[in-house]
Amino acid sequence: MDWQELEQTCLNCTRCGLCETRHHVVFGVGKKDADVMFIGEGPGEQEDLQGVPFVGPAGKLLDDMLSIIDIDRTNCYIANIVKCRPPGNRDPHEDEQEACIQYLRDQVSLIRPKIIVCLGRIAATRLIRENFRITREHGTWVEKNGIWFSAIYHPSALLRDPGKRPETFDDLIALREKIRQMNITL
Ligand code: URA
Repeated sequence: MDWQELEQTCLNCTRCGLCETRHHVVFGVGKKDADVMFIGEGPGEQEDLQGVPFVGPAGKLLDDMLSIIDIDRTNCYIANIVKCRPPGNRDPHEDEQEACIQYLRDQVSLIRPKIIVCLGRIAATRLIRENFRITREHGTWVEKNGIWFSAIYHPSALLRDPGKRPETFDDLIALREKIRQMNITL
């Protein structure tokens, strides 16, 4: 499947119940051959209204976090585990994640990133390891199928608990170092 076909299929998706309440499918944004991908859990209110990931308050913070390490939306790719908003911003259910995950797999196959950074627990338990503990394991690295994975706190968690910000700053600096070590030019 090529990019356009994938995006079209996703935009018309009815694989789970979230299609009934969504305003927009939030497919993803960024560079289609990015070396670094960031994966959140699912669209919130603003994302659902605009069809673009991370454009609400958490998105503003994400942009600020990325700017610390010279990353912006044009030199990485940003997507979510589920492409439609779970009502009231609840966690996406297991069956909704299951129904949607192939879109992300296809995005990863087309983009072929070298690094995937999970934003928060939902993405980390889905993409790194089922029993991944974000509080203990954020900032650690693991290689799977030639891609290096890490997880940092979700920006919404940092908005709720600013006390987590210093650890996330360290994780971002470690990410910048990983990018440098891997000779990635953004
Ligand atoms: N939170 C997410 O996980 N993803 C978004 O796109 C916005 C908020």
